[in-house]
Amino acid sequence: MAELVIPSVQYKKSSIEAVREAQAASSGLGDTLTWNVSEMEADFGAVLEDLRRYEPGRDLPDGFVHSDYRWLVEGDRYLGRVSLRHTLNANLRVFGGHIGYEIRPSARRQGYGTLALRLTLPRAQALGLSQVLVTCDADNYGSCRVIEANSGQLEDEVQLDFYDRLIRRYWIMLPGASGA
Ligand SMILES: CC(C)(COP(=O)(O)OP(=O)(O)OC[C@H]1O[C@@H](n2cnc3c(N)ncnc32)[C@H](O)[C@@H]1OP(=O)(O)O)[C@@H](O)C(=O)NCCC(=O)NCCS
Repeated sequence: MAELVIPSVQYKKSSIEAVREAQAASSGLGDTLTWNVSEMEADFGAVLEDLRRYEPGRDLPDGFVHSDYRWLVEGDRYLGRVSLRHTLNANLRVFGGHIGYEIRPSARRQGYGTLALRLTLPRAQALGLSQVLVTCDADNYGSCRVIEANSGQLEDEVQLDFYDRLIRRYWIMLPGASGA
């Protein structure tokens, strides 16, 4: 059964394979496409440290918010990743939102994207959030479906000066949460 876990060395081989896969297909989030696979092989500890750099929630670089990172795995197989941002800043409110996700190319179209977001919602609720903002490119049909399958309500579509695609902004309500 697939589950969200804290990134760890247990998934080194599979997560590096997934980066190779994404780079070969030129399909994935920006940082996945630019990671240096040789450096990952050489010092995976540094990769893990880098991934989790905003988790302590203090001494954050300008523009960054307290966030945490989980990998979606099944057994030892890396399937994808999710970021959960604990708060929004002005930029994230328009573009990025609370939750970002990616599924490796060979695991797509099997429900894992929908599952990754679904498993993240209780974690957002546990932070005291009553709703989460999730954004995607309007032409990213798979991502729109992932959000809609998790009861995302379309707020609007926006065109930004610095981005050449329309962005869809969705809110997902988290029933029973204690705060905003
Ligand atoms: C977007 C992404 C996360 C979807 O992951 P996934 O595991 O394929 O999603 P699911 O299998 O849960 O699919 C959800 C729905 O979208 C549909 N879908 C997924 N990818 C699709 C595609 N490329 N074209 C058409 N439909 C697609 C599925 O058929 C499914 O439809 P259904 O709800 O009618 O059953 C994945 O394609 C990905 O990682 N893309 C690159 C990174 C990215 O775009 N991240 C999101 C940034 S906002």
